Amino acid sequence: MTREISVELRNVDKVYDTAKVVDGVSFSIKKGEVLVLIGPSGCGKTTTLKMINQIIPHTAGNILVNGEDVTKLDPVELRRSIGYVIQYIGLLPHLTIEENINFVLQLTKRPKKEQQERALELIETVGLPADYLKRFPRALSGGQQQRVGVARALAADPAILLMDEPFGAVDPLTREQLQNELMRLQETIKKTIVFVTHDMQEAFKIGDRIGIMKEGKLVAMGSSMELVNSDDEFVRDFIGRGALFDVLDTISVTRVLRKDIPTIREGEHFDKESKMNGWDNILVLDERDAFLGYVSIENIDASGKISGDAVQRVADAFPAELSIKKAIEEMLYGGRTWLPVAGDDRVFKGIVTFDSCAGLLSKEGGS
Ligand SMILES: Nc1ncnc2c1ncn2[C@@H]1O[C@H](COP(=O)(O)OP(=O)(O)O)[C@@H](O)[C@H]1O
Ligand SMILES: [Mg+2]
Repeated sequence: MTREISVELRNVDKVYDTAKVVDGVSFSIKKGEVLVLIGPSGCGKTTTLKMINQIIPHTAGNILVNGEDVTKLDPVELRRSIGYVIQYIGLLPHLTIEENINFVLQLTKRPKKEQQERALELIETVGLPADYLKRFPRALSGGQQQRVGVARALAADPAILLMDEPFGAVDPLTREQLQNELMRLQETIKKTIVFVTHDMQEAFKIGDRIGIMKEGKLVAMGSSMELVNSDDEFVRDFIGRGALFDVLDTISVTRVLRKDIPTIREGEHFDKESKMNGWDNILVLDERDAFLGYVSIENIDASGKISGDAVQRVADAFPAELSIKKAIEEMLYGGRTWLPVAGDDRVFKGIVTFDSCAGLLSKEGGS
């Protein structure tokens, strides 16, 4: 399925006097995609971001938003139609949180009641209590202010969000929390997001694709797995040796589940002639399809019946959110070769094995 392009840069330059600080950058972002731009300080990330909403005009090339050349759009409208979040969020100190969130709605003269409802909705969206709306920014911690910044950027419900190191100034624990919240939020709001960071782990965690910049040029672009497997020396040096495990920590085991293992409900008969699929064991589920254990083929008699005490009970199934890294650790340190995985409803989903994890690496690495 090809999704529509939301933002596109075609051979874009930014020149100050004689310095080309952005040099021939091209990329396109699909609707609902999160593109992370990363690179050393001064490589042109912020400039690239600000050219998208034309806070900084580009010198050459074309920038399209929803297929339209940004230089042909009304600059005020363009800026208002794109959410913008920066590191020091810049809340206005003499306005309440509610007024800060609704700053843009007020500019566009939306009815007061609508503004209030929207602020209430947004404060909850970003995980802050409703009574914070009446407070002033100085009463909030740095992390809370960043949340308000995200709420403010979402106020006019823009399709595109530009985020420039939005979590760069908060402590590591808050940072992780904000990242998780953004990802959870993105599952429902599905904005097109351009996210600038200099933190590779953050990039792996948040980005559908990651673009690496160096001295004004976009030198690599791809999924985290593609970048980890890159042949390019700069890319490999930049992302570092430990990167593979960082990436594996961002990918859920649901990507590598084997669902072909035979299952049986407790007490049911099993047709071992036709249903083994080459496996030597059958997983046993309860009446609600929750994982109970497994039974070896030898313990099934000719009629297909298993004796109850032949079922090997092992630990509970693991949640689907388990990352591939955690699954590998669990298998290594727990002396196991496979793990059962279940959804939130405890319904069994499949198993993860060393081989299924390795399969992902060779599949994505080969491309
Ligand atoms: N107004 C300006 N005039 C001249 N040079 C600038 C200006 N703004 C930024 N630069 C230069 O452009 C380069 C890219 O800056 P920037 O996009 O802010 O980098 P990054 O966000 O990747 O750290 C830097 O070398 C910076 O010094
Ligand atoms: Mg910057």
